[in-house]
Amino acid sequence: MGKFRIAWLPGDGIGGEVLQAARIVLDSVGLDAEYLPGDIGWNFWCSEGDAFPQRTIDLLKATDAAMFGAITSKPARAAEAELAPELRGQGLVYRSPIVRMRQLFDLYICLRPCKAYPGNALNYREGIDLVVFRENTEDLYCGVEFTPVPSELAALLARISGPFGAFQQLPGDQYAVSCKINTRKGSERITRRAFEFAHRFGRKKVTIVHKANVVRATDGLFLEVAKEVGEEFPEIPFDEANVDALVMWLLRNPFNYDVLLAPNLYGDIISDLCAQMVGGLGFSCSGNIGEQLGVFEPAHGSAPKYAGQFKVNPIATILAAKMMLDWLGESEKAVKVESAVAHVIQEGRVKTYDMGGNHKTLEMAEAIARAISG
Ligand code: IPM
Ligand code: MG
Repeated sequence: MGKFRIAWLPGDGIGGEVLQAARIVLDSVGLDAEYLPGDIGWNFWCSEGDAFPQRTIDLLKATDAAMFGAITSKPARAAEAELAPELRGQGLVYRSPIVRMRQLFDLYICLRPCKAYPGNALNYREGIDLVVFRENTEDLYCGVEFTPVPSELAALLARISGPFGAFQQLPGDQYAVSCKINTRKGSERITRRAFEFAHRFGRKKVTIVHKANVVRATDGLFLEVAKEVGEEFPEIPFDEANVDALVMWLLRNPFNYDVLLAPNLYGDIISDLCAQMVGGLGFSCSGNIGEQLGVFEPAHGSAPKYAGQFKVNPIATILAAKMMLDWLGESEKAVKVESAVAHVIQEGRVKTYDMGGNHKTLEMAEAIARAISG
């Protein structure tokens, strides 16, 4: 038995291929772990009506951390249509397993470092080093949604909300409602983690990202709480920006920013922008972190069109494994992995297709593993 128990969740599409690559690197760095495969993804939705079966939930309860590949998600109608015939018409509803996992295990931190490794021709600018702290369980991701809209809800809204008057006459199947729910507790704890991170790693600033000028209730709350918490860290300057302006300024001068703190959906969006500035999704890793469990994944999706080709860049997943090592307290190994990634990028001899080369997923992993054994 290894020192750590790690759930291994390949999921769909290229998920298995990038996890295989990460495993090569974890083995080369000598992590003492037991890897426990778990079922998750589209196939399990189709065959058993659940993309995140209970047995996988139980597995996660009994592990220290998890590596997660990627998941294919499809809109409600397409999801229903692909169910095994005997499961259709039972009112089964597809929900993204990764979103469920974040909520079920209260993985409230989504940590997304976006660093431009020197020499990566895909860098938007050399020297970019941004970190996104995305709240990971609430906001528009809370799953409280209605389509069609039940008449009780419409009646209640008509009574208590003036602006709802504009929709009041519509039949329930002619509109849809998705609730954005943000709590004080949720806003507070993610903010605290962002400022603690800034403090610990000597970061120059935290920027609170919101749209409180329009979305007054929820983003107003997030902003208010984040500022309160920020005041507790006088050594870390902070500012705030509306998300629309922020994306423009971020592109104009990425060096004006450092730690970006955002509610769930804006965090999702800005992290793709930040990823693109450091080479694209092939370089962008993500940690879903709670008090008990950390689940680490590449921020890219399952790329079904490349599945089976061992073609995609595994660096995002290898960097996710590096984050897992940090989270497990194996910092020396984490440093080794990151240095090896940086070395292979800088050297520029092994490149996957996105980097303009034709090396395969596992060749990249092997090059990084060689740099570790050095
Ligand atoms: C991400 C992804 C997910 C999200 C999808 C796959 C549900 O875009 O991790 O950023 O929206 O959070
Ligand atoms: Mg995303």
